[in-house]
Amino acid sequence: MPHPGLTGGPIYLDYNATTPVDPAVLEAALPYLTTHFGNPSSSHHFGAVPREAVARSRDQVAALLGARAGEIVFTGAGSESDTLAVRGAVLAAPAGRREVITLPTEHPAVLNAGRSLQAGGVTVTHLPVDGHGRVDPACLEASISAGTALVSIAFGNSETGTLQPIRELAAIARAHGALFHTDGAQAVGKVAIDVEELGVDLLTVVGHKMYAPKGVGALYVRDGVAVAPTVHGGGQENGLRAGTENVAFVAALGQAAVLAGAELSGDARLGRLTGLRDLLHRELERLLPGRVRLNGHPEHRLPGTLNVSIDGVRSRSLLAAVPGVAAATGSACHEGVDAPSEVLLAMGLSPERANAALRLSLGRWTTEDEVREAARLIAEQAGRA
Ligand SMILES: Cc1ncc(COP(=O)(O)O)c(C=O)c1O
Repeated sequence: MPHPGLTGGPIYLDYNATTPVDPAVLEAALPYLTTHFGNPSSSHHFGAVPREAVARSRDQVAALLGARAGEIVFTGAGSESDTLAVRGAVLAAPAGRREVITLPTEHPAVLNAGRSLQAGGVTVTHLPVDGHGRVDPACLEASISAGTALVSIAFGNSETGTLQPIRELAAIARAHGALFHTDGAQAVGKVAIDVEELGVDLLTVVGHKMYAPKGVGALYVRDGVAVAPTVHGGGQENGLRAGTENVAFVAALGQAAVLAGAELSGDARLGRLTGLRDLLHRELERLLPGRVRLNGHPEHRLPGTLNVSIDGVRSRSLLAAVPGVAAATGSACHEGVDAPSEVLLAMGLSPERANAALRLSLGRWTTEDEVREAARLIAEQAGRA
């Protein structure tokens, strides 16, 4: 069934920016905005059902990650989860561990959380990535030391979809006594993730990238890992994130985790997504022979992400001229300045190629007809360039 938010508008190929809320997720959230309004900390009648809802959701999110319920901290956004992971881990690290190692291709939430610590004497090291956006574990091995508190490397990049060798990287961090955080914003629910198997200490989950609402996230914190809180107040969320729980959105995240888990174990729908992504790629190549260049890893890539540069176009102008497709450019627009994407530049792409990049991201409601039509519309416009 088509999603009510996606009918009658352009073809939506921007699932990495945000996903529509799944109707089943909405249904799971609504009772806590209507009937069950109580504060989960209340010991009287009205607290009981909301408290159960938060506990159930914690179980559901933990199950998706192979974690224990007590290791899940609910937050108000992915940026908050990243901040809690980076600042929290470093502020709680033993004296002498004063370095964060990360990548230049990380989300600003990670990069800026690292920067915010520099005034306090923390060093932030950015490891280089290759032309596909991957970091070489040998590079981490060469850089890490007894002074490293935390390594923070995203599971899958939001612009290119490139997946990192997380298990190998986490093992290196552990061998040197450092903690390992991975930002799973784009990967959770799209690829199988088991925190035990990966050996990560901290993992960011973002609601609105997995068919739950914006404004809810979670951080997996491995049992026994010390993290300093970033939001102070009452003792909610194991003392790590104060504030009365957003019960409705927490319930939504739990339901989203259940749906994602079913999709992952069924794997037919995710295979479908990879198939559609590759069809879109092939169609663009067919319609624009010799002009389409893939940005990101050809195999180690999120199932729904296709980032391509089309020779001879400026992607921002191209998308503006194709109102029938809602997609993103690879670039971030800072204060109205049309700057090439830092992620693509860090991969060694020229500014011209970075400015020609289109990020096309597919999701639960993307259809084959939409993919073919989007390729046609994009190619038609690019053909004029
Ligand atoms: C990789 C990554 N990390 C973190 C975030 C931030 O999540 P939020 O928008 O919930 O703060 C995003 C969202 O764009 C993201 O793509």
